[in-house]
Amino acid sequence: MSKASSDWLLCNISKARLASINAIMEEIIDASDTNFKKLALHTARMGGKKLRPSLYLLALNTGDYYGKELLTPAAALELIHVASLHHDDVMDRADLRRNATSVNAEWGNLNATYSGNYLFSKAISILSQYDTTVNQITCGYISDLCLGQLKEAENAYNLKLSYEDHIDVLIKKTASLFELPCKLGALLSGASDDILEAITNYSKHMGIAFQLIDDLLDLKGNPHKTGKTVGTDLIEGVYTYATLYTLHETDHANKLTHLLTLDDMKPIHIQEAIELISLSGGLNAAKVKAKEHLEIAKNALSILPDNNTKTSLLNLTHFILARDH
Ligand code: FPP
Ligand code: MG
Repeated sequence: MSKASSDWLLCNISKARLASINAIMEEIIDASDTNFKKLALHTARMGGKKLRPSLYLLALNTGDYYGKELLTPAAALELIHVASLHHDDVMDRADLRRNATSVNAEWGNLNATYSGNYLFSKAISILSQYDTTVNQITCGYISDLCLGQLKEAENAYNLKLSYEDHIDVLIKKTASLFELPCKLGALLSGASDDILEAITNYSKHMGIAFQLIDDLLDLKGNPHKTGKTVGTDLIEGVYTYATLYTLHETDHANKLTHLLTLDDMKPIHIQEAIELISLSGGLNAAKVKAKEHLEIAKNALSILPDNNTKTSLLNLTHFILARDH
């Protein structure tokens, strides 16, 4: 298993199934045009943490049914995530993803968008082979994903964005793709309604915490480890929890507002803004908030039987908090 997948996944069956999804993704993207295939699979081939398929595969263990046909959705779920990254990097004008040049930077915005749509439609066509409920659940979460991303874009440069609206964005744009795998895994394996509800609740709060930490890494991460450029959010006017804390609750609000509203924001200003956010306790406040959500996530798992699946899900909450990539 690659380093990116980390050691939190203890369940050997799920680990073995996860190891097979790269090949399935290649099969799903059966584009005959080899140049297009290279472009479409560029991000997927760079690895990534594979959290969404891992969650799906763990959730599959919560019921009493498993059949080989249930492996393919794991690859489809990763492809939906990758498709969203193609789109996201266009919106963020990002040039680095998974430690490699992003698709938009290498092949342009149109190619990134079309290949994202292609990955997305291939993935959806796989999931649509299951039943109507799977379709409805998938469409519901994908709508949320898009609405979350739109709400974030609508609020770009909004210095007055409330915590409530910010967390709503995180639920829609990120927790949606944590809830979807958990719900589908539990559902397709025939888990009880109680387990389905518990694991969905777990994944929602895990997703919120994941994005809170992801946003911290945008401010203070090591680009060699995150594989992404630092400070993108501030340049794009995406004010995340730590920034909002400094703006809403500290004496440094005016100074930070001044920096964030400069017409010609240079790297030195981004650096100053990040230092201010750190000094005023913003980074810490975001970490505390992430911990709160991880506690809720852990508690939601209390009704699950004690086994490797539950331990892996609990481990993931620690990995999310401690991660540097
Ligand atoms: C990363 O956020 C991006 C997301 C969590 C979701 C992006 C979703 C879309 C663009 C909608 C895509 C729609 C379809 C139909 C596939 P981030 O920018 O905060 O994180 P980053 O640091 O990894 O870029
Ligand atoms: Mg981004």
